[in-house]
Amino acid sequence: MLNFKEEVVKAIKSQVEELEEDEISVQIEVPPSYEMGDYAFPVFRLAKIFRKSPPSIAEELANKISDNPYFSKVENKGAYLNFFVDKSKLVETILDEIKEERDKFGSSEMGKGKTVIVEYSSPNIAKPFHIGHIRTTVIGNALFKIYTFLGYDTVAINHLGDYGTQFGMLISAYKRWGDKDVIEKDPINELLKLYVRFNEEADNNEELRNEARHWFKELENKNEEALKLWEWIREISLKEFNKVYDMLNIKFDSYAGESFYSDKMPDIIEELKGKGLMKESEGAYLVELEEYDMPPALIMKSDGSTLYTTRDIAAAVYRKKTYDFYKNIYVVASQQNLHFKQWIKIIELMGYKWANDCIHIPFGMVSLEDGTLSTRKGRVVFLEDVLNKAISNTLDIINERNPNLENKEEVAKQVGIGAVIFQELFNQRIKDYVFSWDRTLSFEGETGPYVQYTHARINSLLERGDFDLEEKVDYSLLNSESEINIARLLYNFPQVIVDAMEKNEPYFVTRQIVEIAKAYNKFYNSSPVIVDHKELKKARLMLSFATKTVLNTGLGLLGMEAPERM
Ligand code: ARG
Repeated sequence: MLNFKEEVVKAIKSQVEELEEDEISVQIEVPPSYEMGDYAFPVFRLAKIFRKSPPSIAEELANKISDNPYFSKVENKGAYLNFFVDKSKLVETILDEIKEERDKFGSSEMGKGKTVIVEYSSPNIAKPFHIGHIRTTVIGNALFKIYTFLGYDTVAINHLGDYGTQFGMLISAYKRWGDKDVIEKDPINELLKLYVRFNEEADNNEELRNEARHWFKELENKNEEALKLWEWIREISLKEFNKVYDMLNIKFDSYAGESFYSDKMPDIIEELKGKGLMKESEGAYLVELEEYDMPPALIMKSDGSTLYTTRDIAAAVYRKKTYDFYKNIYVVASQQNLHFKQWIKIIELMGYKWANDCIHIPFGMVSLEDGTLSTRKGRVVFLEDVLNKAISNTLDIINERNPNLENKEEVAKQVGIGAVIFQELFNQRIKDYVFSWDRTLSFEGETGPYVQYTHARINSLLERGDFDLEEKVDYSLLNSESEINIARLLYNFPQVIVDAMEKNEPYFVTRQIVEIAKAYNKFYNSSPVIVDHKELKKARLMLSFATKTVLNTGLGLLGMEAPERM
C-alpha cells in the first residue's frame, strides 16, 4: 500500500542530503488535529546543520517540496513543515488495498520466523474460575491473536496452577471428609469447601499442616494414591474451565502447568547451586537479591519441596529449549510484579541472555459495582455466571428491539460475551476498573454492542444495495469531510495493530474500531448510501464495505464475534 509517511521521508530526503532516511522518519510526528496536516516534520536539527533560523528553513523547504503528487499542500508553520495528504489519493489507496486484501488487510509478515509465546489465563485448579481471571484470559487471547495476525509463530500456553502445597491440603482434606459423588456433581464448589474447611481446622490443629506437607511430598515422589487423586482433581477442574474457554472461543496450544515441571526441578536446583547462586538458610535454599533491591527468592523448602518461583524458572528454561522463543510473554496481574522481577533476574544471573525476552505484561484489578469480589470470604463471582448473565441480558434487549431476529440465542451469545470482552479491552490494561452492567451492554456509546451493531447495519446495507466488489468505483465521489475521515481511520488501522503489539496493549485496537464505528455512523446519518445516483451509491457502498471489513478484523483480533445481523 502506498505509504504516505514514507513519501514524506522521501520528499525531505530529496532536499536534505545530510540526514539519513531513518533519522528523518523518527522525527515525523502526527499533528493533534487534521487541520494541522496529516504529518509534521520539525526542522530544528536542520536549522542547526545549516545554521539558519528554523522558520526560514521551514519556509525554504516548503517552497521546494510543495509540488508533490501525494500531498495536496506542504505548509510551513513556525519550525514545522506540515504535510497534507492528497485526499483522493488517500481514498483510492485505502479502498483499493482493502478491496484487494479483504480480511488480510492489516496483517503482516513482520513476525515471520519468530516465535512468540503468550502465556495467559493460568488459573489454579480446584479453585473457582472467577471474574478476577477474566482479564488475563481476555487480554492474553487478544495479544495472541494480534501477534498471530502480524505473522509471528505464536504459542498459547495455559500455565495451570496445578501444583504446590495446596494439593497436599486437598488430598488430605479429601481423604478425611471427601465424597466423590458429591464432588463430581459440583467440583469446584465442593473442592473449595474442602479447602476452606481444611484451612479452618488446621488453624487449631498443627497435625493437619504436617499431613498436608506429607501428601504434597508424596505427590512429588509419585505415590500412586496421591497421583491418582491429583489427576482426578485436575481433570474435573479443567472440565469446568473448558466450559468458559468454549464460551469465549479460546484454545490453548499447551496446558503445561506447574506440575509439568516437577521432574525438571532437580536440574534447575543443581544448576543454581553450580552457578553459586544458592544460599542455604536453615535447611532451605534461596537466592539473595538484595543487590537488586529485592527480597530473597525462596527456591526450595527445608523438606525439599519446591516453590512457585522454582517452577517459573524451570518453565522458562524449558520453553527456551523447546520453542527457542523470540519473546516469552506472561499476562499476569500486577500483584505479581515482584515475583516476575525476581525470577527473571535469577534467569539473568544464571547467565541466560534471553532473560530480557521474558516479559511480564501486568494488568490492574477488576471489581464489581456492588463490591462483590473476594475469594477469601467465599464471595466469589464465577466467570461463567457473568457470561451467562451477559447473554441473558442481551437476549432481553434483543427481544425488546428486534424480536423477530433469526438465531436470537446465538446472536445474544455473540453480543453478550463480546460486550464483556470489549469492556475488558477498552482501557489501558494497567488501570483498575469497575465492571458495570449498564455500560457493558449498552448499544450506544463506546461499547462492544455498538461496534457489532454498526458492523451488522453495514452488512444489511450492502445486501440491500446489491453491493458488488468487482465493480469499478469512481473514488473521486468520496470527498466529504465525513468520508475522508473514515478513510483516514481505515488507513491507520495497520499501524494501530503494530502499535498494539509493540506496547502489548490491545486497547489500541479497541479504540480504533470504536472511532471507525463512530465515524461511520456520523457519515451514515448525514449521507444516504442507497441513492439514485448510481455511481455515488457504488462509491458509498465500497466505503461501507471497507469499513465493515476492518470492523470485522478488529473485533476478531479482540476475540469477539461479528454477527451479520443483530
Ligand atoms: N496460577 C497463578 C494464579 O492464579 C498464575 C500463574 C501465572 N503464570 C506464571 N507463569 N507464574 O495466580
